[in-house]
Amino acid sequence: MSETAPVKRLYIKTYGCQMNVYDSERMADVLAPLGYGLTDSPEHADLVVLNTCHIREKATEKVYSELGQIKRMKQARAAEGAAMTVAVAGCVAQAEGEEILRRQPAVDLVVGPQAYHQLPELIARAHRARGERLAADFAPEEKFDALTTARRPTGVSAFLTVQEGCDKFCTFCVVPYTRGGEWSRPAEAIEAEARALAEQGVREVTLLGQNVNAYAGPDLAGGGLAALVRRLARIEGLDRIRYTTSHPRDMDDALIAAHAEVEALMPYLHLPVQSGSDKVLKAMNRAHTAESYLRLIEKIRASRPDIAISGDFIVGFPGEREADFEATLQLVREVGYASAFSFKYSRRPGTPAAAMPGQVAEEVKDERLARLLALLLEQQAAFNARQAGRVLPVLFEKPGRHEGQIIGRSPYLQSVYVSAPDRLIGRIVPVRIESAGANSLAGALQLETV
Ligand code: 5AD
Ligand code: SF4
Repeated sequence: MSETAPVKRLYIKTYGCQMNVYDSERMADVLAPLGYGLTDSPEHADLVVLNTCHIREKATEKVYSELGQIKRMKQARAAEGAAMTVAVAGCVAQAEGEEILRRQPAVDLVVGPQAYHQLPELIARAHRARGERLAADFAPEEKFDALTTARRPTGVSAFLTVQEGCDKFCTFCVVPYTRGGEWSRPAEAIEAEARALAEQGVREVTLLGQNVNAYAGPDLAGGGLAALVRRLARIEGLDRIRYTTSHPRDMDDALIAAHAEVEALMPYLHLPVQSGSDKVLKAMNRAHTAESYLRLIEKIRASRPDIAISGDFIVGFPGEREADFEATLQLVREVGYASAFSFKYSRRPGTPAAAMPGQVAEEVKDERLARLLALLLEQQAAFNARQAGRVLPVLFEKPGRHEGQIIGRSPYLQSVYVSAPDRLIGRIVPVRIESAGANSLAGALQLETV
């Protein structure tokens, strides 16, 4: 991991017992990757943490009087155009809770004694509330962002951004810090862009967002992504709608129902699970269990039985034991994926997981990744093989590598190679699937189309 040089000053005042001294050290540890280095005086601190203790009488009053002084320092800093974030942690925070924020508005956040590992998340939220982002503290590594924002360069199928940002704070991920909170484009603007695309010959749109199924367009009266999909499905010429990437937490009944009812909504769903171990999922702050994910998949398949399920996986998350990894393999076996992306856990400065104990050795990650990939590839090949003999509607996108060949996509997002004239590009045509490989299908036009 590349350490970031401290660019921000952190002042921690510790009250009370040895436990609190220990907790203060851990707080400094989890904040170091965010660029915070310790300072001895609060006056010029960017972040002040009072790690409080409740054990003696008048402890609470002492904290409020200290906060009164800090408030004045915060005001002095504000007068110089600099910000100060004030956090109250420890037992007084636990006992007083939100009351602290009411009594002393200079306080930005309150953190219970068990929650210091959430400090990076809480601080990011406090910064955002002031309209700031922590992006500058991170080495720019666009790898994971790029996955969801890359545009497919074709005239037939287009990406359309509908949502940005993320409020989920998975402990391994930089997106909530770099991209900020969840934000949805108005449905009006999306519809206008989709109409314009359709007029230019686009037959398929993929609605994009880091958390696309958290879409909450202000002008859809709370209708969410399902309402947006139904609205776009009415656009003439727009025959196919896809969306990516989704979080299991936001996969609501309306969207699941849309998969059964909206013909244009393609039977493909990218629904990352990351791990099959509840212990790891909890440490990842995923807010779902293996079981709840499996039940969700069951519900989605009840709505659209042939749906292709895709996912993201991380191997070697801190604390992942062999048994946890095997739980991931077990989940994969139970779901049966049509495609998937797998990653070795990579330590991202500023994220809580970067400071977690139990970092997994690189060789172990390599070995687990290889086993997971082998299983996923087998499943992908099996899913593809099941299409052999079927007739699928294929949207042709571009010429193939070989003369007289064109390439399109099945409803399940598989590439399909067919010998056919170029003039079929841009059209959706029934194709009989003749053979299947791990990465693509080969087929022939149904006679009546030629
Ligand atoms: N290490 C490994 N994989 C990561 N992802 C996000 N952050 C990390 C990380 N620190 C993966 C997740 C996510 C996908 C876009 O990238 O699986 O779903
Ligand atoms: Fe990152 Fe996705 Fe988790 Fe958001 S939901 S924090 S973008 S992995």
